[in-house]
Amino acid sequence: MTDITLFPQPARLEHRGRIFSLAPDALIIAQDRALGELLASYLRPATGFALPVQAADSGESSADTNAIILESAAESDSPEAYSLMAGGTTLRLRAAHRRGFLHGFQTIRQLLPRQILSREVVPGVDWRIPGLELDDEPAFGWRGLHLDVGRHFFPMDFIKKFIDLLAFYKFNTFHWHLTEDQGWRIEIKKHPRLTEIGGFRAETVIGLNSPEYDGQPHGGFYTQDEIREAVAYAGARGITIVPEIELPGHAVAALTAYPQLGCRGEGYEVRKNWGIAEDIFCAGKDEVFDFLEDVLGEVLDLFPSEYIHIGGDEAPKARWEACPACQARIQAEGLADEHELQSWFIRRIEGWLNARGRKLLGWDEILEGGLAPNATVMSWRGSDGGIAAANAGHDVVMTPNTYCYLDYYQSVDTDSEPLAIPAILPLQQVWDYVVIPAQIAKEKRHHILGGQGNIWTEFMPSSDHVEYMMFPRAIAIADVLWRHPQERDYAALVERLRRHLPCLDALGVNYRLLDEPDNA
Ligand code: ACM
Ligand code: ZN
Repeated sequence: MTDITLFPQPARLEHRGRIFSLAPDALIIAQDRALGELLASYLRPATGFALPVQAADSGESSADTNAIILESAAESDSPEAYSLMAGGTTLRLRAAHRRGFLHGFQTIRQLLPRQILSREVVPGVDWRIPGLELDDEPAFGWRGLHLDVGRHFFPMDFIKKFIDLLAFYKFNTFHWHLTEDQGWRIEIKKHPRLTEIGGFRAETVIGLNSPEYDGQPHGGFYTQDEIREAVAYAGARGITIVPEIELPGHAVAALTAYPQLGCRGEGYEVRKNWGIAEDIFCAGKDEVFDFLEDVLGEVLDLFPSEYIHIGGDEAPKARWEACPACQARIQAEGLADEHELQSWFIRRIEGWLNARGRKLLGWDEILEGGLAPNATVMSWRGSDGGIAAANAGHDVVMTPNTYCYLDYYQSVDTDSEPLAIPAILPLQQVWDYVVIPAQIAKEKRHHILGGQGNIWTEFMPSSDHVEYMMFPRAIAIADVLWRHPQERDYAALVERLRRHLPCLDALGVNYRLLDEPDNA
């Protein structure tokens, strides 16, 4: 496999037979025309070849026609499995499901000369793939990346680029963190002030909550048409978008728009600095639940995702302790304290979501005060929450900050890096991540659905900066989640990355250079 570098590395690859060369008059033969057209659209810009898509049963092709053939395969354990055979005049891609074909397309893009990633015709390239047989399927069914668009807003063209990059590395989930103290980013028709007022802040603190502010208004939001466009764009590339609507905490932008939804009922301002806010949604007022059901109702109409993320993290209880309505709720429901009130809050939302056929997903704080009966837990404060939830029979997505937080510094030499959250997560640590902790009983391990990297954007005002923090660490996450290797040879990873990173240059993606003497 010396001359082939793929990220993520496939489960099985053997060199075999003759080189496959893509000719200008090659056919794409496919049962599913739309799939064939998508492959053609990946290959057209750089090659300039207008590869016609032909139905599988048209019988026009002869044995020696140069062709890429998409064939149905028998079901296998993973709905994302595919196999690929390259040799002579044919490149044969087999899968049982659409997602398998889509992964195969990305493998083809990585196998061809790197110039295939260009958006403009690159003349004089021999578009060839070494003779090979490849069988591939992922170790985990949840392979995600999260993006916080609340702390900084990113325009639609970057959202699409982000989705393209997820697809390139065979992620299947985009966790879109849409609401925050510092900005509400999703249009809600019934409550327009959420984006009119909550979508914008007056200015932003400089540095790690210094006394100085930049004097620049910041904001923006996605219209429902844009959200639908993103969902369709992602779906066509095999990516599910899981929306996150934060409750009961991280809600100051919403409270600024509708102050009656907070315990104090007034005095809110879309936050201009970072950290945990004491102001959260009131748990005592019924109108809060009417409001949240309105919001989630529109969210369900926009997002087909089975999972809806409701946040649940970092909700201080000071306001609830002092609020007559919240205290009356505790009395009326026979709850022991404010932690049980949070649990009651989440259960109420879960019941509403479950009645509409969706599953609730929340950060690991939803364990406090008792977990809602069907909840899936996203373990972020290390792995303990995930271990407890899995052992209690709940599904878990692992995203421990110690291995998966891409907002942490990439190097111990923080002075040479752009400002970040004061914590360190070098590439090697990401690569060492073992997704299933030994403390989870064997018969409960199936509850670990997979994992994801999280990108919190307090200190990432631009998409270039997001890319720098993502790469190359997100590639290591993709590799870990796809094949979960027993042995982690870091030197080998670095070697593979050294060969692969020019792909990011070809894709116009910013990234951190590998640590090596030359770059030191
Ligand atoms: C989180 O990082 N607050 C989930
Ligand atoms: Zn209250």
